Amino acid sequence: MKAEVRSQKSEVRSEGSFEPKIVGFLCNWCSYAGADKAGTAQSAYPSNINVIRVMCSGRVDPQFVMKAFENGADGVIILACHPGDCHYKEGNYRAVQRYRMLLRLLEQMGIVKERCRFDYVSAGEGDKFVKIITEMVETVRGLGPLKTKTAQTV
Ligand code: FES
Repeated sequence: MKAEVRSQKSEVRSEGSFEPKIVGFLCNWCSYAGADKAGTAQSAYPSNINVIRVMCSGRVDPQFVMKAFENGADGVIILACHPGDCHYKEGNYRAVQRYRMLLRLLEQMGIVKERCRFDYVSAGEGDKFVKIITEMVETVRGLGPLKTKTAQTV
């Protein structure tokens, strides 16, 4: 399948202050609850992330990630329940397998793997959520806006 990643629409507010757009797919049962915990604790973290809540990380189709990049994301993060904690038994294992495949695809498209991160956040790990989001924003900020325009086969 041929796909095209359009040039990004990220904000470059002023010279040298690029604010990356990050799309985060968060599993409802663990990672979203972890994000909620960070919010409840009023922990500060970058507002660059647009959260998409999914019932399980196993629901994240690689095409969702491609679409996010196509629509202007500079980075994508997928957060899942820890191994053994998936409410649908094997969803996060499948998600990891898809993620590995996705990284190869992104590489073919000229998108460096640092723009797409997979990690585990439980409902009680609000601090870890903050750390991961902060790291991701800093990493992508360092990479600059996504400018890839071409794609290979899926
Ligand atoms: Fe959280 Fe499956 S329910 S990863």
